[in-house]
Amino acid sequence: MTTADTTPRLLITAGPTYEPIDAVRFIGNRSSGRLGSALADHAARAGWQVTLLLGPNAVRPEDKGVEVVRFQSCRDLELLLQDHLPRCDTLVMAAAVADYRPVPEEIDLDGKRKRKPGEMTIRLEGTPDLLAGCSKNAREDQLLVGFALEPRDRLIESAQGKLQRKNIDLIVANPLETMDADSIEAMLIGNPARGLRLTIETPGIITKTDFANWLIEQITPLCQQRRTLCAGNSTHA
Ligand code: CTP
Repeated sequence: MTTADTTPRLLITAGPTYEPIDAVRFIGNRSSGRLGSALADHAARAGWQVTLLLGPNAVRPEDKGVEVVRFQSCRDLELLLQDHLPRCDTLVMAAAVADYRPVPEEIDLDGKRKRKPGEMTIRLEGTPDLLAGCSKNAREDQLLVGFALEPRDRLIESAQGKLQRKNIDLIVANPLETMDADSIEAMLIGNPARGLRLTIETPGIITKTDFANWLIEQITPLCQQRRTLCAGNSTHA
């Protein structure tokens, strides 16, 4: 991990997306970006070269070595991922990407909607699944990690569904109650279809800082294994 060639490169996304309605209004969510930021700090201290794609209204990492690039909307993040994905070994997708946004005809970026009597309707369209898109474009030596915030009673089942649908390597499943909380209890589940048959639980409920440390410790050897395996395959090809 000492030369530029062997230093593992981590791309993290974190925070909410803001989907504009007009010059002053948007549709957003409550994600703070704290977890992604903590992950970036721990990874940088553990020797990774880290780029953090960070949404609006979010904290900043403390480690000066972390490259921070800001985004606002799902579309901004989509473009940044296209640019940065080819240069990483592992992608951790912790951003809370909006599932819906106003259709283009509803958006007035230069003006402000006037109040009118009665109801107002804003038509929304689905956003693309960015992680699924990354999976289609990724190389086989890259490790893709997603998050699934789910109700506790169907945590594992829903998380496994997302692993398959998005065709990614690993998913961090955590119960809905941990959103906005200071502590977290989570499970890292591997995708057997991509050679990762594993389920690892956090040691009980831990702080988000300890969780960030824990997740980086789990991901580091898996990233190294994947790179070694793919390097071996290409040597034998
Ligand atoms: N995600 C993404 N693009 C989206 C929505 C989500 O890349 N448009 C990513 C998130 O960053 C996260 C994972 O997909 O890593 C799961 O996000 P989540 O909101 O839990 O799942 P959805 O795919 O939106 O599915 P659902 O709404 O059914 O829970």
